[in-house]
Amino acid sequence: GALPLDLFTAIENLKKELNAVILAHYYQEPDIQDIADFIGDSLQLSKAAADTNADAIVFAGVHFMAETAKILNPEKMVLLPDLDAGCSLADSCPPNKFAALKAANPDHLVVSYINCSAEIKAMSDIICTSSNAVKIVQQIPKEQPIIFAPDRNLGRYVMEQTGRNLLLWEGSCIVHETFSEKKIVQLKIEHPDAEVIAHPECETTVLRHADFIGSTAALLKYCQRSSAQEFIVATEPGIIHQMQKQAPSKLFIPAPPTNNCNCNECPFMRLNTLEKLYLAMKNRTPEITMSEETRVKALRPIQRMLEISV
Ligand code: 13P
Ligand code: SF4
Repeated sequence: GALPLDLFTAIENLKKELNAVILAHYYQEPDIQDIADFIGDSLQLSKAAADTNADAIVFAGVHFMAETAKILNPEKMVLLPDLDAGCSLADSCPPNKFAALKAANPDHLVVSYINCSAEIKAMSDIICTSSNAVKIVQQIPKEQPIIFAPDRNLGRYVMEQTGRNLLLWEGSCIVHETFSEKKIVQLKIEHPDAEVIAHPECETTVLRHADFIGSTAALLKYCQRSSAQEFIVATEPGIIHQMQKQAPSKLFIPAPPTNNCNCNECPFMRLNTLEKLYLAMKNRTPEITMSEETRVKALRPIQRMLEISV
């Protein structure tokens, strides 16, 4: 049938019908953020998924996020508007290759960034997000060797912050590696009072220009409390919707990519649209599923993270 003209009302109605909660990441398009019950960074979203008493979770984010929600809620229906909404970090770490690295380093503890598949989580000792990676590594005894996967940029940042050596998986986020150091420096010259804020998935060449580094939620908070009036934002520009809502008088300039493209927008996150969100709820598909064996193994390291992040 034809799409209803008022998708907002149609989605609200379906939400009641399904007793569903809509969770959205900060990188989603503004319309999706505006209809969501909860918007957050990866850690906040996994906490929200762990705490909800809705019957269904509609995840407006990427696959690994919806999968994490399902691992925490095996009895609930977890819908993802587009199953192709993946992540270059999760894709960079195939389970068979990761198993080989683990087997070659049996004395290492495995700390995995939440941006990975359930299979990788199942092989991990503890999960972290960009909000708590430094804290989690700091809590591990100094003499304990660690494999950190799959983001080499976050890994390097954690190494710098903790003074620890980590065995890094060479994965990266295609979005956070597109920012141009040269263009950021140029913007700083044009806006001498602007502060540069960056996500730790960015390369060292970009991070060295940052006045503040943090997860999406931390960047959002920083913009509110800083006295600066202008910010150069080195992360996916979807977050700027919330930054502008919280501080309408401030100026937020998206950090430019090297090429003249929209490649600072996450192509996976942007696969979700309001239409697909509506259709997923109406048709109760696509739904996240996984084997119970993988789910149980993947749950333990997530729970460990949640226990120390409260
Ligand atoms: P956070 O949500 O932890 O800031 O991570 C950003 C990201 O790239 C999610 O895919
Ligand atoms: Fe993955 Fe990067 Fe997209 Fe986040 S922004 S989902 S890390 S590709």
